[in-house]
Amino acid sequence: MFKKNQTLGEFIIENQTSFKYSSGELSSLLNSIRLAAKVVNHEVNKAGLVDIIGAAGDVNIQGENQQKLDVYANEKFIQTLTNRNIVCGIASEEEDDFISINSNDENHQNKYIVLIDPLDGSSNIDVNVSVGTIFSIYRRVTPVGTPVTLEDFLQKGNQQVAAGYVVYGTSTMLVYTTGDGVNGFTLNPAIGSFYLSHPNIQFPENGTIYSVNEGNYIHFPQGIKNYIKYCQMEENDRPYTSRYIGSLVSDFHRNMIKGGIYLYPKSSLNAEGKLRLLYECNPMAFIAEQANGKASDGFTRILDIKPTELHQRVPFVCGSKNMVEKVEEFMKKAI
Ligand code: AHG
Ligand code: MN
Ligand code: MN
Repeated sequence: MFKKNQTLGEFIIENQTSFKYSSGELSSLLNSIRLAAKVVNHEVNKAGLVDIIGAAGDVNIQGENQQKLDVYANEKFIQTLTNRNIVCGIASEEEDDFISINSNDENHQNKYIVLIDPLDGSSNIDVNVSVGTIFSIYRRVTPVGTPVTLEDFLQKGNQQVAAGYVVYGTSTMLVYTTGDGVNGFTLNPAIGSFYLSHPNIQFPENGTIYSVNEGNYIHFPQGIKNYIKYCQMEENDRPYTSRYIGSLVSDFHRNMIKGGIYLYPKSSLNAEGKLRLLYECNPMAFIAEQANGKASDGFTRILDIKPTELHQRVPFVCGSKNMVEKVEEFMKKAI
C-alpha cells in the first residue's frame, strides 16, 4: 500500500514487519544510512564552491584541512553507522581492511555487516556531474559474542538482507531494497526529508540504451565487441542509444527507469574488470533482480559468485533482463 507524501522514515517503520528477521534493528540501520546520506548530500552540493571556500588539501577558515569528498563521505558513513549498536563490521572502498566495531559493543552482540562505496563516480565531482553512494547489508555468519572475521564479509551476494544507493543528482534520491521490491525516495532539500517518489520500481524487460566505456573497445573480449556491434546495427529497435556518465550509480539509475544495459567488461588492461564485487556489483545486482532486471559477469549470476577477497573485481553486465541475456548469448558464442 503506497501512501501519498510518505516519508522514508515512515516507510521504513511501516514495512519492517515484512522483513523476515523481526527487526527494529534493520530499520535503525537504514535510518542511519538515511542520515549519513543527507549529511553527504549537503557537502556534495557545496562542491562547486570549492574555488571560493578552498580546494581539497587547503586549510579552511577554522584551520581544518579541507577533505576530498570521497574521504569525507567515507568518514561520515562510518561514524553514523558506528553510532548505533547494530553494526558489527564495515568494509569500504576507502579502507584497505575491514573495520571491526566494538567501541559501543564490548560483547560483540551487534549482528549486521555493512559494505560501502562511499562516493561512486568521484571523478565527476569537479565537473558538477552526478555521483552516488552504494551500500550492501548482511547478517554476520560468525557467532555473536565474538569479533567479526573476514568470513562475515565474504558472503555471496544472494545472502544480502538489504542494499541500496544514493544518487546525488539534479535531485538527490535514495533507492533501496530489503528483498521485497525496490523503492525510490526523493529528498526535499527545503525540508530535509526523503519522500517516496518511485514506488515499486521495475526494469523494463527490454531497453534501447547501452552504457559502456567504448574507448576501451579494442581491449574488450570478442563477445562484448560483437554485442556492441549488434547494438549499433540498423535492425528492429536498433541502433540503440549510447549513454555513459562514468558513475555506475547514475548510469544504473537511468537504465533502470528507462530500460537499458550497463557493461564494465574485463579487458586486456583489467583482467577482472574494474568494478568491485562486494560494494559495487553485489548491491546493484540485488537491486536489479528485485526490480526484475538481471546482473551477470557475462556467464554467471553475480549474486552466486563466492567472493575470495574484500576488494575483488569482477566483470559486470547489468540491466534489462532480455538485454543481459543477449550479452550472455554473445559471450557463449565467442568462446
Ligand atoms: P569510484 O568513483 O567509486 O572509484 O567508481 C568509479 C567507477 C564507476 O562508478 C564507473 O562506472 C566506472 O568507475 C567508470 O570507469 P571508467 O572511467 O574506466 O569508464
Ligand atoms: Mn565506485
Ligand atoms: Mn568510490
